[in-house]
Amino acid sequence: MSRKIHTYPDKILLQQAGPVEKIDDYIVDLSRDMARLMYENRGIGLAAPQVGESLRVVTVDLSGPDRQEELFTYINPEIISSEEEITTEEGCLSVAGYQSNVRRARKIQIRALNLQGEEVIHQGEDLWAVCLQHEIDHLNGILFIDHISRLKRAMYDKKVKKWLDR
Ligand code: NI
Repeated sequence: MSRKIHTYPDKILLQQAGPVEKIDDYIVDLSRDMARLMYENRGIGLAAPQVGESLRVVTVDLSGPDRQEELFTYINPEIISSEEEITTEEGCLSVAGYQSNVRRARKIQIRALNLQGEEVIHQGEDLWAVCLQHEIDHLNGILFIDHISRLKRAMYDKKVKKWLDR
C-alpha cells in the first residue's frame, strides 16, 4: 500500500482514531511505513492518522532522520500522569507552513504496547514529553493549531483557504 502524509484540513486528521485490537502484519507494516515517511519528511514523531490510518499507533525518534537510532513504536498509547508546564514552538508535517508556541506538560508518563504486544511504561520530559503529547493528540483528532489563540487560528485558516482556492 502506498501511503502519504495527509495535511490539514483533511478529515482523517480530525477524527478519533480507533484502538489497535491485534498487532498483526498489517500493523507492523503500517509502523514501518510511518517510520519511513517520518524520516523522509525529517520529522521526529508521526501518528497513524497522518498517513491516512485511523488507528492508535505513534512512531517517535528524537535522534532524528540522520541518526535514526531511537525509533520507538507505541500502540494504543495513553498518558497516565503529567506534571509541570513548558511552552515550546511546535510544527507538524500535517500542518503546512506554520509554527506556533504551545503550552503543554513538561513531564509525562505513558502506557502503551510495543510492537511485540508487551506493555511498556515510559516517562520523559521536555522534547520527548512534548512530542508524545503532540502525537497522542493526533490520535484524538487534535492538532497543535487547536491549542493556539482564536485569532492566530483564524489567520491560519484564512491562509489555508487561500491555498485551497488556488
Ligand atoms: Ni503533528
